[in-house]
Amino acid sequence: MYIVPSSTAYNVSRKLASIFSCNVSGVVRKRFPDNEMYLKIIDDVHGEDVLLVGNTRSDSDIIEYLLLLDAIKEEDPKSITAIIPFFGYARQHMRYNNGEPVSSKVFTKAINQYADRIITVELHDEQTLDYSDVQFENIKIINPVYNYFKNKNIDFVMSPDDGGYERAKIMGNKLGIPAYYIDKKRIDSTTVKMILPEEDYENKNVLILDDIISTGGTIIKASNLIREHGARNIYACAIHGVFANNSNEKIERYVNELTVTDTIETKYSNITVSEEIAASLKSKISI
Ligand code: R5P
Repeated sequence: MYIVPSSTAYNVSRKLASIFSCNVSGVVRKRFPDNEMYLKIIDDVHGEDVLLVGNTRSDSDIIEYLLLLDAIKEEDPKSITAIIPFFGYARQHMRYNNGEPVSSKVFTKAINQYADRIITVELHDEQTLDYSDVQFENIKIINPVYNYFKNKNIDFVMSPDDGGYERAKIMGNKLGIPAYYIDKKRIDSTTVKMILPEEDYENKNVLILDDIISTGGTIIKASNLIREHGARNIYACAIHGVFANNSNEKIERYVNELTVTDTIETKYSNITVSEEIAASLKSKISI
């Protein structure tokens, strides 16, 4: 078995290689004079089970991922598993307005041309799974988050919106503490008001748990509100730390601790998803 790492997922690639005691293939990356991407897989993956590990966060990540898929396929491997720790473009999983593309479908269909299966982590919406003609698993990251927070004396888990309440409830159950969600009320076309559930926040340790932090607006607003109600420590945690426009720097001023997983590798990636990905793989191919 070989792992081919895209440039966006070296850590998860290395961790998977150590779990499975397999090789990580070298990849030559260059730019042509006109800036088009040149890639070449160095190792011979002919007849091998190949795991392509990489994110599809930026447009150039997507090009890299697709080119690597083709490079692998051209070598006639035994199988290709597309592992995408952070599946970008997943928030446009349906047509919200006429004239729009279904972005997550476009990418899923493209991968289907090459891969025997797709594994991703905490997709924004599972509707994307329905667009695939090959096996497509969305892994939920529960135990690694639980293990990280179990000794931190958290008093309750808060989802910053009702959409994430299920995740907060699961974590609350595991930690043996209550879980709540913040109600969002639209005031006008540009203003959304957050309403905290009526609980005692005085001196409490609160874990705010979300699927993704991008601009940080959601986490900052929620943290501010919880702090105003007297909380002592605020732990902000998300599965995917996108941190658009370096929003991490701002978030750090509002929370006591910021933690994300390594689906996107950042200095806040205190939790790894590699063991969960490995467990999913073991159930799919004989390794
Ligand atoms: C919303 O549905 C998501 O769960 C996140 O709360 C949201 O995408 C976070 O985005 P931002 O960091 O830009 O507020």
